[in-house]
Amino acid sequence: MKFFLKSITLLFFLTCIITSCSDKKSSATPTMGENAVPATDDYDPNRGEGKFNESNLSLDGFDMAMAEKGESISNTKCASCHKITDERLVGPGWAGVTQRRQAPWVLNFITNPDPMIDKDPELQSQLELCLVRMPNQNLSEDDARSIYEYMRKIDGAK
Ligand code: HEC
Repeated sequence: MKFFLKSITLLFFLTCIITSCSDKKSSATPTMGENAVPATDDYDPNRGEGKFNESNLSLDGFDMAMAEKGESISNTKCASCHKITDERLVGPGWAGVTQRRQAPWVLNFITNPDPMIDKDPELQSQLELCLVRMPNQNLSEDDARSIYEYMRKIDGAK
């Protein structure tokens, strides 16, 4: 009887381990699938991939109210992984990000990280450092634009 119980417990743990592994696999599969398609040749590392580009993004003037809105969204959705200094937490610190990256790149990335993580050489090397893929935070365009304004504030815009 004791042996029987032991085997059941062991079996239970094994099943947990196996299912937790396969869960990870299944969530990674869609992006791995995309990765298999050789789409890197038309990837623009300055703009990234998505709907934002130089012409549909207006960056004239700094908007403090928008930056404050961005700050409160990022406190709930981003601050667990990003500091506003240059120090890495889970992801890279945000200080200097508006100089490091073009605005369309940032907006395309934060509204839909997966396709860019699969294609962008710099994101791939960050992934090697951070070991975590930045998750899609389901930002609306407006949320994303506000967070970008907050990043401009971090980088000294007034
Ligand atoms: C679970 C942790 C996590 C959360 C939450 C998260 N990120 Fe990230 N972020 C990362 C990681 C990790 C990277 C590095 C790229 C990669 O490996 O995916 C990254 C990279 C970035 C970059 C590129 C930085 C650079 O210097 O190139 C930006 C911009 C960014 N994140 C913005 C955001 C925004 C905006 C939010 C909130 C809406 C957010 N992140 C939420 C983990 C996270």
